[in-house]
Amino acid sequence: MFKFDGIEVMNERERLRYMLLLAKSQLSSENDDLANISNITGIIMACVEKLNWAGFYFLRENELVLGPFQGLPACNRIEIGKGVCGTAAHTGKIQRVVDVHEFPGHIACDDASNSELVIPIIKDNEVYGVLDLDSPEKSRFTKLEEEYFIKLVEILNENINWNNI
Ligand code: SME
Repeated sequence: MFKFDGIEVMNERERLRYMLLLAKSQLSSENDDLANISNITGIIMACVEKLNWAGFYFLRENELVLGPFQGLPACNRIEIGKGVCGTAAHTGKIQRVVDVHEFPGHIACDDASNSELVIPIIKDNEVYGVLDLDSPEKSRFTKLEEEYFIKLVEILNENINWNNI
């Protein structure tokens, strides 16, 4: 069982470190890739404040298809190059969006979302999908969070066989 006692008094960096610690613990105690990434979404939601959605989209025949997530039901499919997720997958670049309503072509899955952080999942130069985080607060995502989510995706890349998902 995961313990989140004391998380409410942690600062931003401590919460992010704790998120990585719990992610490593999950990945070292289970070898089913789907179970692992499902619990990773729960770990993110428990450790990172003010999120309304956290989850994965995976590349399937040239479009992104919804994977494990926490939050309200979301779009099943996103075209590559469309929206924040499709842009991250197309460019291979992190998208840290201060105000999603200003992002051309933003796809609104949950009206509550106002800012977004999308990290592309790239291993050996191949795009496998994206990790998407949404917040109801504008300018919610910090550079520090971006750095820690890059680390999280690196840890996932070392432990998950994306072809199994
Ligand atoms: N806003 C995203 C769509 C996915 S949802 O936020 C879960 C986008 O523009 O790609």
